[in-house]
Amino acid sequence: MRNSSKWLRLLVCIVILMKVDGFDVPITIVEDAVAKGSVCLDGSPPAYHFDKGFDSGVNNWLIYMQGGAWCNNATTCLDRSQTHLGSSKLMSTNYYFTGILSNKSKHNPDFYNWNRVKVRYCDGSSYTGDVDAVDPNTKIFYRGARVWRAVMDDLLAKGMKNARNAVLAGCSAGGLGAILQCDNFRALFPSGAKVKCLSDAGVFINTEAISGTRPLEELYAEVVTTHGSAKNLPEACTSKFSPELCMLPQYAARYIQTPLFLLNSAYDAWQISNILIQGVVDADGKWRNCLISGISRCSDSQNQALKCFKKQFLAGLSTICDNNPTTGFFINSCFCHCQSDAQETWLSDDSPRLDNTVRTDLILLRGIVMRMSFKSNS
Ligand SMILES: *[C@@H]1O[C@H](CO)[C@@H](O)[C@H](O)[C@H]1NC(C)=O
Ligand SMILES: *[C@@H]1O[C@H](CO)[C@@H](O)[C@H](O)[C@H]1NC(C)=O
Repeated sequence: MRNSSKWLRLLVCIVILMKVDGFDVPITIVEDAVAKGSVCLDGSPPAYHFDKGFDSGVNNWLIYMQGGAWCNNATTCLDRSQTHLGSSKLMSTNYYFTGILSNKSKHNPDFYNWNRVKVRYCDGSSYTGDVDAVDPNTKIFYRGARVWRAVMDDLLAKGMKNARNAVLAGCSAGGLGAILQCDNFRALFPSGAKVKCLSDAGVFINTEAISGTRPLEELYAEVVTTHGSAKNLPEACTSKFSPELCMLPQYAARYIQTPLFLLNSAYDAWQISNILIQGVVDADGKWRNCLISGISRCSDSQNQALKCFKKQFLAGLSTICDNNPTTGFFINSCFCHCQSDAQETWLSDDSPRLDNTVRTDLILLRGIVMRMSFKSNS
């Protein structure tokens, strides 16, 4: 028994190794940002990974913002500053480029020869924070928006200012950043440049949890206060709604004037696991079973709760799309979170193909539908 499981593990490793299709891109540290006060939580300089465009892509730029949730108060931000999500001193020196960052035409037909950049997330505020004062107790800096701007300035100087096409994208908290910074990104370029934004798994909905609370609204209220984010949220939104609501795409995204594409699952795995069931005491592991072992393990009441999440998600989404004609979207039902940054879910070697699970079909199909919709002009 033990032997066979060892073999199985080896086999899995071999299969994973055979699937390797990306490459490592070294880190660039924006040292001179420190003098301008544009720093990560711990005061270290911001960072990104850059792979140069080539051939017909030399004047096209794809900026992809890393995600990784948020820190909402002095304690959680201090904790975070001691990780790679709060300090460039603790970041890996390489980042693996694959999926939408791949340089192979076969794997990434639309963006493979663009200048491709992965921005490292080190502020915990979806790139919105800006507090002048350093926290006297923790020595923590809340400067996410300045970090974002410093990275953009560095890239503009490296040739992004001549971009003919530019896309601001990101996944999760980075996908939310891509929405909130979208019009600021647009403003970096002359009017002749074509500029769009892509938010992958960034549509965080103000879901009512099973417990009856609205955990995201509460979390964002603390994020906005801690990071001083209000002044960096879309002004047309904050003039009508409270700043914590303007961290939420269902309020903020209708005011974004730059074409915006939303890629998300209506059963977003992160939101279901962290928001919908927040506060649920899962002593008997029933939710764990349902969410990890597969949908067939979910009880009727759990399925009901999942459908309820989907309903809230779609209602929130429609407030964006009904009010903003330049928004496009592709929403699927995969139980997943972020789909553009992995080859499997962006465009696979052998997609489209029929697989024996509906979930995989949807993922592979999405790669194609998504690219078609995003390429369409407007
Ligand atoms: C900070 O936030 C965390 C997570 O929400 C919470 O558990 C903790 O009690 C908060 N700490 C303070 C000092 O407010
Ligand atoms: C992609 O990048 C890797 C690593 O820099 C390089 O070896 C390879 O030739 C590149 N592929 C293409 C098609 O440019």
